[in-house]
Amino acid sequence: MSPTDTDAARTLLASASRILILTGAGISAESGVPTFRGPDGLWRNFSPEELATPEAFTRDPRLVWEWYGWRRQLVGACEPNAGHLALARWLLAREGITLVTQNVDGLHEAAAIMTGGAAAEAAFPVRLHGSIERVRCTRCRYAGDHRGVIDATSNATLPHCPSCGALLRPDVVWFGESLPESAVELASRAALSAEVCLVVGTAGAVYPAAGFARTVYQRGGRLVVVDPGKTAFDDIAAVKLTGEAGVVLPEILG
Ligand code: OAD
Repeated sequence: MSPTDTDAARTLLASASRILILTGAGISAESGVPTFRGPDGLWRNFSPEELATPEAFTRDPRLVWEWYGWRRQLVGACEPNAGHLALARWLLAREGITLVTQNVDGLHEAAAIMTGGAAAEAAFPVRLHGSIERVRCTRCRYAGDHRGVIDATSNATLPHCPSCGALLRPDVVWFGESLPESAVELASRAALSAEVCLVVGTAGAVYPAAGFARTVYQRGGRLVVVDPGKTAFDDIAAVKLTGEAGVVLPEILG
């Protein structure tokens, strides 16, 4: 990452009145949350088909809940890092920025609360893929927070709906499922008006999420990409900052 690139990124971000930020697993890597496709990524050791599809849940809800229970515990022990905090401070200080995340870990929200107190909501992200702390019913419309430990010793001990008694599932988006309509609407609106898209810690392999950054580019907007590795956006980035989010973001947003 050269000083020239850092300056170019700062200039682009300062000159735009509307900015879309798209984050992925990489922004939480320095907090200790594993990414999906990196060298130690989750999808290197686990199969998405067995753990993150509606079919997998129908086949073996206990196995799927065991995996989500493990991830919930792991994420629950993690704290926001300097990257999350820099973004939260920036969102609270400036107008016209929309933060859209693929992450289900709640660390953007935690950073917003640490930084903004009562005003925190202004720095909350649009969540494209749901939340690992939330559950929803497999039968009725019940959905809510579920913060306790998941007991996945048998199907009978799994969490059940307080309203109708059916099995609850994690309130996350699985492969083959649609994204929440309201999140897609907010992200699309931001992508259709942003002059700059700041892309942080995502390989850009999963759609429709990656498509929001591409929309900004196709409309003539500029991409600033922050990632220590290769991404699908590198060819179309106006500036690529090769480095970790916790180091780069405080530098360009400070
Ligand atoms: P990936 O694991 O595909 O990509 C993570 C990116 O983060 C890679 O480009 C890494 O180089 C980068 N990275 C690693 N450490 C970093 C750091 N310290 N700072 C910045 N970047 C870093 O994760 P996503 O692109 O988020 O979907 O994956 C997208 C979706 O695929 C996820 O939301 C999940 C997954 O399947 C669902 O579960 C629906």
